[in-house]
Amino acid sequence: MPNRKKSLIAKKTPPASSLCEETTPYRVNGSVTPHAYRFIDLFCGIGGFRFAFEKAGGKCVFSSDWNKYSRQTYAENFGEEPHGDIHSIAVADIPQHDVLCAGFPCQPFSIAGVSKKLSLGRAHGFDDKEQGNLFFTLAEIINVHRPAAFVLENVKNLTSHDKGNTFRVIRDTLTNALGYTLYTKVIDARSVVPQHRERIFLVGFKEARHFDFPVYPAEGPKLESILDANVPDKYTLTDHLWKYLQDYAAKHKAAGNGFGFGLVTGKDVSRTLSARYYKDGSEILISQGPRKNPRRLTPRECARLMGYPKDFKIPVSDMQAYKQFGNSVVVPVVERIAQAVVETLQRPVNFRPDLVLYDRKSQKQIPSATVNERLVKYTIPTKRKKS
Ligand SMILES: C[S@@+](CC[C@H](N)C(=O)[O-])C[C@H]1O[C@@H](n2cnc3c(N)ncnc32)[C@H](O)[C@@H]1O
Repeated sequence: MPNRKKSLIAKKTPPASSLCEETTPYRVNGSVTPHAYRFIDLFCGIGGFRFAFEKAGGKCVFSSDWNKYSRQTYAENFGEEPHGDIHSIAVADIPQHDVLCAGFPCQPFSIAGVSKKLSLGRAHGFDDKEQGNLFFTLAEIINVHRPAAFVLENVKNLTSHDKGNTFRVIRDTLTNALGYTLYTKVIDARSVVPQHRERIFLVGFKEARHFDFPVYPAEGPKLESILDANVPDKYTLTDHLWKYLQDYAAKHKAAGNGFGFGLVTGKDVSRTLSARYYKDGSEILISQGPRKNPRRLTPRECARLMGYPKDFKIPVSDMQAYKQFGNSVVVPVVERIAQAVVETLQRPVNFRPDLVLYDRKSQKQIPSATVNERLVKYTIPTKRKKS
């Protein structure tokens, strides 16, 4: 028998106040389900977060992006145009929400962004008055609306920028100043799409909740799973560009630096798709055998490489589409995080995974598979005497 003195009665559902009231049925993936929670999609780009959080049962109540082409793609796919510049909206006018999602702009923190800005004599990180302060805009929104959780995404080297100072400020702001319990993890998307893409995720909870990042498959797919068999000739590199890329790579190799271009086949995993892919496609070149120059990915292949649904609409030029996918999150990576965040919010605040769960009436242990559906009571495990 579990030690009854140590047993704790948990709430059947999260406290009503922790989730926004929502009663209207909401259509998720074709079926009507009640809204589980409301989320906002900041710096939404083309809606990578939105696909993931809708799949996990959420309703998007606000989105914002200042790029007119991203807004066009977003509107085409979600039927509503996001708000523009986040600074043009009073924080109080943003609707109440349970989860705040934001892939906040990474340029001021990324190595490419930093070196470009330094070479232009411009500030970077928090000194970047135009963009670096977007994190503080986020912090203000969190402070005013106090969502039950937030999920932020950024480039991996956010942690090392400015010798770690940038990340220290971010962590301190989210934890000490705002009082959130913070979990961070660098996740490589290659376990779910054929692309090596490491991004840091910061997941925060208003209450001191236990959270486990999802477990991703050890072995991911290969490029052949996203490549088209027949691709128009316009995606094949011209002789001029191909020669330029080979000469450039040879020069850098001789100098002992740089990776040059990334030539791959269907059996490989690609490098990270960047927002500059439209320029020369050098980071991901698909080999077409010895008699033909390599080609770039098509925008549709990029959509698959980022895990977007088959019917995702691409209403913009190739150049804009490459920029949009290169800036995006990998949808199936976020889908698993969204699911884990929702499950965490559905548990009692003080749930700990090392506790053994018992049914209130029968006092029988609840199999872990049913724990998410009905958490009625949990008990600190006690050492049982061998009989
Ligand atoms: C890294 S991307 C996020 C992409 C998004 N997570 C997705 O899945 O497509 C950052 C986005 O922030 C937007 N942005 C930058 N500054 C902004 C601002 N001041 N207000 C609103 N959006 C902004 C950019 O246009 C860009 O689409």
